[in-house]
Amino acid sequence: MEPIQILKKAQEGQYAVGQFNISTGEQLRAIIEAARELQSPVIIGTSESERSFIGIKQIVALVNTWQEETNIPVILNADHCKSFESVKEAVDAGYSAVHFDGSGLDFNKNIEITRQVVEYAKSKNPDIVVEGELGYLRGGSEIHKEIEIKPEDLTKPDQAKEFIEKTKVDSLAIAVGNIHGIEVDLENPHLYLEKIKEIQKNVPSTFLVLHGGSGTPEEDIKEAIKLGVVKVNVNTELRIAFVNALKKSLAEQSSEIKPYKILAYSVNTVRETVKEKIKLFGSQGKI
Ligand code: G3H
Ligand code: ZN
Repeated sequence: MEPIQILKKAQEGQYAVGQFNISTGEQLRAIIEAARELQSPVIIGTSESERSFIGIKQIVALVNTWQEETNIPVILNADHCKSFESVKEAVDAGYSAVHFDGSGLDFNKNIEITRQVVEYAKSKNPDIVVEGELGYLRGGSEIHKEIEIKPEDLTKPDQAKEFIEKTKVDSLAIAVGNIHGIEVDLENPHLYLEKIKEIQKNVPSTFLVLHGGSGTPEEDIKEAIKLGVVKVNVNTELRIAFVNALKKSLAEQSSEIKPYKILAYSVNTVRETVKEKIKLFGSQGKI
């Protein structure tokens, strides 16, 4: 199934497809195993740093091989590309989706480069999914002490309409109270659901994307999906699952030296974490 169709089907069926970020083959294996077990489409995400660690050509080849072997619909997304060149590199390497993150630019500059990105990506591959970003998401995919969300960070529904009309992106990453990573001392993390509703009303055909899926209350995620979110990105929770399992594995088998035995704990733990997310997003059995 073409990447656009995977998201279209999710939009029509009111569920979301998870984007799970990776930088190693073990994380990829865990996610594919979860998707195969639950018969769910999935999106593999790599940030610029993640893809340079695993190798850009290597991740394209790995995803293609897994897809052929399992027949699970898998999209490979170049997450948070910060420049046109970065998007171009991913498109040319064979990614099936790209995300240009111009959220640090002023509104008009963001539109200008996003539009160039759409033109280039679609000219090379008409089936590619292009995601833009509007609003500002603070933090990276790690554990934070404190992150303050400012009102001006949030996506403005009127701007969303103009952004979509002028750039023609397929998907839009929105800032609606979400943050990247997990904030330890935050007592009541929540999404501004009203804001999602307003944005959706203004751009009804656009695939809305919720970044910062880690640490967000499950109820809010379910509501966000009901309101039109069709893609939820998760990274921090998977990183924590991987590293905690690795530490446990090393502690419990201190004389073990076979990497495949040491890493098996991480693969299992990440797979189970991804399965929980797939169930939460409602994409189980939707292939
Ligand atoms: O683009 C990736 C994400 O938005 C992941 O966010 O680390 O908070 O799950 P997260
Ligand atoms: Zn993100």
